[in-house]
Amino acid sequence: MSFTVTTPIYYVNGAPHLGHAYTTIAADVLARHHRRCGEDVFFLTGTDEHGEPVALAAEKQGMTPQALADQNAERFKALAPQLDASNDFFIRTTDEQHKLGVQQVLQTVKDNGFVELGRYEGWYCPRCADFKSENEVEDGDRCPIHHIVLTRESEENWFFKLSAFQERLEALYAEQPDFVLPVQRRNEALAFIQGGLQDVSLSRGAKLQWGVQVPWDPEHVFYVWFDALLNYYTALAYAKPGEDLTERFWPATFHIVGKDILKFHCVFWPAILMAAGLPVPQHVLVHGYLLMNDEKMSKSLGNVLDPFTIIERFGVDPLRFYLLRDVQFGGDGEVSAEAFEQRYESELANDLGNLASRVSAMVVKYRDGAVPAVGAFDLTEDFDGLADAVAAHLDRGELTQALEAIWVRVRRLNRYVEEQAPWKLAKDEALQEQLDVALATLIEGLRTVMVLLAPYLPATSATLLEALGAPDDSWAAAAFGTGGVTQVAKVAPLFPKHDATPA
Ligand code: MSP
Repeated sequence: MSFTVTTPIYYVNGAPHLGHAYTTIAADVLARHHRRCGEDVFFLTGTDEHGEPVALAAEKQGMTPQALADQNAERFKALAPQLDASNDFFIRTTDEQHKLGVQQVLQTVKDNGFVELGRYEGWYCPRCADFKSENEVEDGDRCPIHHIVLTRESEENWFFKLSAFQERLEALYAEQPDFVLPVQRRNEALAFIQGGLQDVSLSRGAKLQWGVQVPWDPEHVFYVWFDALLNYYTALAYAKPGEDLTERFWPATFHIVGKDILKFHCVFWPAILMAAGLPVPQHVLVHGYLLMNDEKMSKSLGNVLDPFTIIERFGVDPLRFYLLRDVQFGGDGEVSAEAFEQRYESELANDLGNLASRVSAMVVKYRDGAVPAVGAFDLTEDFDGLADAVAAHLDRGELTQALEAIWVRVRRLNRYVEEQAPWKLAKDEALQEQLDVALATLIEGLRTVMVLLAPYLPATSATLLEALGAPDDSWAAAAFGTGGVTQVAKVAPLFPKHDATPA
């Protein structure tokens, strides 16, 4: 089975920030999960380098668009490994093969009769690279997102006949009810379609040269959004030298996108694919915004939640955990350095880190590090069905719920330590068997949660499973009771305290 997951391709008009990190981390969790389930995975990310947003930023900085793109694409490329993202390819829309792919697909769209010449009259936001209808425009002819004054455009453009796809899109939404996830985003997209579709500009005229040339009209370049959307498809033809991966990995399983780009992915994208005679993706998974209005100061991070500072000081796993834990994936949520530190201390350092240290220390202290072999574990009911529940959540793009399901068990293990009080059992000769069961159960519980957490906390999970001598983090190993840990040493703190403010 194949599984293809993508992030949006990031504009190179600025530097990578937390919002970009968020989408990449989410995509990585799905990629890692499906890989460990034994599926054939392709995880794609990259940069969006054409169009006004980049041309304008380059002009401001006195650079050519290509020079700005080269400079910033490097920064986005470097971001992926910093986030421990396991992407299989990094596409740049200035790649020659991508440009060729765009020309081929859009030529087919034209040959199929879905392109015509027209005149665009109306508002345009160069920051969004998006056309605005009269009812979207804010007072003072401003962009509803960027609040800058919109430009009035009147130019001859090639148009994509989006209006011809109204019924086909409605049918897609009926036949594939989970095409857009979560459901409130699906409803938003469907309402947009049902509201009536207008044809959209497919090209920009002579004013903008920074783009992919329209093959049948070299005076024009393609409108950046169509060039950008096509990356998901064009990449497959050249991601692996010597092999075309298109058959193997198209259609995509999940496109992960922020809610600001819903219209492009949930309406334009399936329509252009239909127009080209290509299969549409299985799901578009839409997440909300990370909001950073909270002014509260954190002890060691100040008040800006900067991904790079966090990675440098805490490692990347705590950042991955925090973003998917604190904000319900799909909705908007406030994030702050203070909330990050609270989660770090209470959940990573205490719930998980202390559990690992305490449990391993007890096995060392009471059983010389040998994990007792027992007939049956406790807590089997608590863990029953957990792996399936996690997989079911992830299949619906419910990244926060899947993590919560695991964390309920982390908490259960902590309560179990208190209930059993192994330090008391150890003192009573008659209770040695119960102590064996308690220690074996705790180790098995710890092993299970660490396997399940591997997509979220890849480095921590690998370290701990290695320390337990049970490095298997495959899906088969995710079932409670699979066992395999026979000997443990005391585990060093997984999440050390970070109280001091750096000098
Ligand atoms: N280039 C387009 C995407 C083309 S995809 C064919 C683009 N780029 S972007 O760099 O502006 O944004 C990329 C992603 O980052 C979007 O999914 C956007 O929602 C996400 N985020 C940017 N800021 C964000 C937050 N503050 N919070 C969450 N995600 C946000 O759009």
